[in-house]
Amino acid sequence: MLLHIEGVLTPDQVARFRDRLAASDWVDGKVTAGEQSAMAKRNLQVPEDAPVARELGEIILGALGRNPQFVSAALPLRVFPPLFNRYDEGMAFDTHVDNAIRFAGPVRFRTDVSATLFLTDPDDYDGGELVVEDSFGEHAVKLPAGDLILYPASSLHRVAPITRGSRWASFFWAQSMVRSDEQRTLLFNLDSAIQDLSARLGQGEPEVVSLAGTYHNLLRMWSQV
Ligand code: NI
Repeated sequence: MLLHIEGVLTPDQVARFRDRLAASDWVDGKVTAGEQSAMAKRNLQVPEDAPVARELGEIILGALGRNPQFVSAALPLRVFPPLFNRYDEGMAFDTHVDNAIRFAGPVRFRTDVSATLFLTDPDDYDGGELVVEDSFGEHAVKLPAGDLILYPASSLHRVAPITRGSRWASFFWAQSMVRSDEQRTLLFNLDSAIQDLSARLGQGEPEVVSLAGTYHNLLRMWSQV
């Protein structure tokens, strides 16, 4: 499932993030890439252990924890501390799959869901689309600053070359309580329908209660915690 989540950060927050990041150090993005993807990757990143990355990352994690769409779609067990990258003119990231296992300090976890939070408005650069492949073909994604795209970490994807300007973003992964993208998608669609029905009919209606029970029992069957 590809899911566009709007307004994870407000315009004021984006502006503050941009100021802080502009004053930060940037290093070659190959530091977080696996062997295959290092060959494909041409961008810059804020060092993982930079205090500014930790501080801004915490703000993102707080916003995501309060975002019902993110929680319902990702069913996060653990979220990797957000990282920050930029692609200047001529930079790109060719087709690759993200590493399956990552370390956050001593914690090892599986990447099930990938996320990109855009920090530059689309008018300010050309190229730089995130292109995600699935069984329906290729999807080119370029969102307003403050918006986030969620996609299965198992997907082949790339960042198209920048032909004008600079594209700044935060990116991170989550280990989900439900490993399978197919099962997560079913749960997300069911949960969304239950929320809509509940708003129309009321939470206590027997059909809503029955569907909510089915949702929780599917989650019980499919989750690993
Ligand atoms: Ni990637």
